[in-house]
Amino acid sequence: MATQINIIDAKNHVDETVRIGVWLTDKRSSGKISFLQLRDGTAYFQGVVVKSNVPEEIFELAKHLKQESSFWVTGVIHEDSRSHFGYEIEVSDLELVGDSEDYPITPKEHGIEFLLDHRHLWLRSKRPYGIMQIRNELIHATYRFFDQEGFLKFDPPILTDSAPEGTTELFHIDYFDKDAYLSQSGQLYEEAGAMAFDKVYSFGPVFRAEKSKTRRHLTEFWMIEPEMAFMHQEQSLEIQEKYIAYLVQAVLDHCQYALKLIDRDPKILEKYTKTPYPRISYDEAIAMLQKNGFDTKWGDDFGSPEETFISDQFEQPVFVLNYPKTIKPFYMKSHPTRDDIYLCADLLAPEGYGEIIGGSERETDYEILKSSIVKAGLDPDEYSWYLDLRKYGSVPHAGFGLGLERAITWICHLDHLREAIPFPRMLTRMRP
Ligand code: 4AD
Ligand code: MG
Repeated sequence: MATQINIIDAKNHVDETVRIGVWLTDKRSSGKISFLQLRDGTAYFQGVVVKSNVPEEIFELAKHLKQESSFWVTGVIHEDSRSHFGYEIEVSDLELVGDSEDYPITPKEHGIEFLLDHRHLWLRSKRPYGIMQIRNELIHATYRFFDQEGFLKFDPPILTDSAPEGTTELFHIDYFDKDAYLSQSGQLYEEAGAMAFDKVYSFGPVFRAEKSKTRRHLTEFWMIEPEMAFMHQEQSLEIQEKYIAYLVQAVLDHCQYALKLIDRDPKILEKYTKTPYPRISYDEAIAMLQKNGFDTKWGDDFGSPEETFISDQFEQPVFVLNYPKTIKPFYMKSHPTRDDIYLCADLLAPEGYGEIIGGSERETDYEILKSSIVKAGLDPDEYSWYLDLRKYGSVPHAGFGLGLERAITWICHLDHLREAIPFPRMLTRMRP
């Protein structure tokens, strides 16, 4: 029997007879020839069935195959310079495995809500395929990068009783007879990790009860949160830009086929592999906005329109430094010469995408931190373990959080985060 392969490996089997388990995505037939569009989950290519080369019943089967029916295809691999993929299979045999009737997602255009309702099937299409390949690459590149940089992967709990990013967006759960929340950030635990292991990072799902319906917010998303002991904010910014440039380079190195399928120009991405990235202060950002007709005042947080405007002014990702204390969380370190701002930065992605990273140096002083916790309306007793970190050899430390789906949305040039995750969770969507 012919060797079983995946479509993605076709290049290694040119002129060989192979056998592949596939699904049909589309088909075109004439009296003498059928073109079967095939996918096997690893790639998409074409099968050519020539009537005069196969038994009558095989040609008939090819003609009657329906969209998303599954079957074994046997044939010889040829180069096919006209397709994105570059190869096709000249079919000699077909063997039906699972029939399919009235597949709901047809080659015509469908509305986004229809597609999201059928996300369990939509994932089979080329665009989600390309995006998920790039997501996969970003995940693996993240592990490679932090491993190379000497970080320890350190998993924070998902069930917690702390609220590092504020209490308004917590998902509450009954934890026996106590209150608990789904984690909105692993950061406080990563800080404990940094004091134990020097450089650590987490990579896992976090949850925010975002009541707003925006293209930039999911209620469940994946975050990468590095934390580094004996490091200041400027060093953290250097790690951040190095990491982002590494991610983009990894996609350029390993995802050319996926980029073609989603129609993303690699030339644009190449600009983002060059560091350093520009830095502007929050004050400068405010001035820039005001000069261009925004009525944003000093002390206001940036919404999507402001972030989009600022990031549109730069060819590369841009760091906005040192935000007012009133709009950032309690754990950040005060600026050394100004009492009204923190040593923090958001990284805004270009092409109008806005914030992809939030980070800061952390407060190291026990008393200052305790009073910030109180000011944030939190109970310092509940954070006694976190305050402990400032009692026993407190050191300068800094860290940041990258939202994986924000990074994917930007790198893939999507217009909404919902396409960046297999099964998006949003205000009005829990199924499938
Ligand atoms: O800016 P955030 O809230 O920062 C933190 O959680 C810090 N504890 C990170 C740290 O310093 N360790 O969130 C970090 C990133 C944002 O920049 C954004 O990319 C992403 O998480 N993010 C979201 N992504 C999708 N949906 C949401 N609702 C998001 N909220 C934040
Ligand atoms: Mg933020």
